[in-house]
Amino acid sequence: MGKVYVFDHPLIQHKVALIRQTETTTRDFRRLVKEIAMLMGYEATRDLPLKDVEIETPICKTTVKMLQGEDIAIVPILRAGLGLVDGMLELIPNAKVGHVGLYRDPETHEPVEYYCKLPADIDKRQIFVVDPMLATGGSAIAAINFVKQRGGKHIIFMCMIAAPEGIEALQKAHPDVDIYIAAKDEKLNENAYIVPGLGDAGDRIFGTK
Ligand code: PRP
Ligand code: URA
Repeated sequence: MGKVYVFDHPLIQHKVALIRQTETTTRDFRRLVKEIAMLMGYEATRDLPLKDVEIETPICKTTVKMLQGEDIAIVPILRAGLGLVDGMLELIPNAKVGHVGLYRDPETHEPVEYYCKLPADIDKRQIFVVDPMLATGGSAIAAINFVKQRGGKHIIFMCMIAAPEGIEALQKAHPDVDIYIAAKDEKLNENAYIVPGLGDAGDRIFGTK
């Protein structure tokens, strides 16, 4: 079963509290999402493998640790997942970025797929599938199915706010995927929105409502 890591760092908690607030503007919301992605990305990359490298400082030769490869792919789930990409790229500028396009049908809440474009060598990369929200889990499960169908193997799912229902569904569908979240909320409401949540993440990032 995939592990669930809840990032309870005070800075992350504070910023998540701010994005929940109705009065937070689109501009601030976007900036905060980027900052949260950076802070979460810092923690989520903790286990990346290192290798010994010989270098020369102005004083002497020495052996230091460097990342084994820059073989990382960030895969946002469109469209709200785009909000997390810039923060991750600040940390890992050489990462490749794939895109999976999904939206929830407003009636059935089932994910509807409309786009998928991933790096050709996705099978060799450590993949971070990112989306601000994990509600029913349908979108994350479908996105990870896409990634696996194209050869993706080492997958981490990272989101800001998750409902218990979504965590359970994702763990069941993809037991090999670890889940990194900033906050585990109470439940889903009758429209499958997270309670207390932050509303519609895509609309809040892009100012479409
Ligand atoms: C939101 C969110 C997730 C999905 C989560 O996207 O960004 O992708 O809902 O819900 P689920 O766990 O029940 O699938 P939405 O469908 O609103 O599309 P958008 O990003 O284009 O706004
Ligand atoms: N998608 C969102 O953007 N918010 C929710 O609460 C649930 C799904």
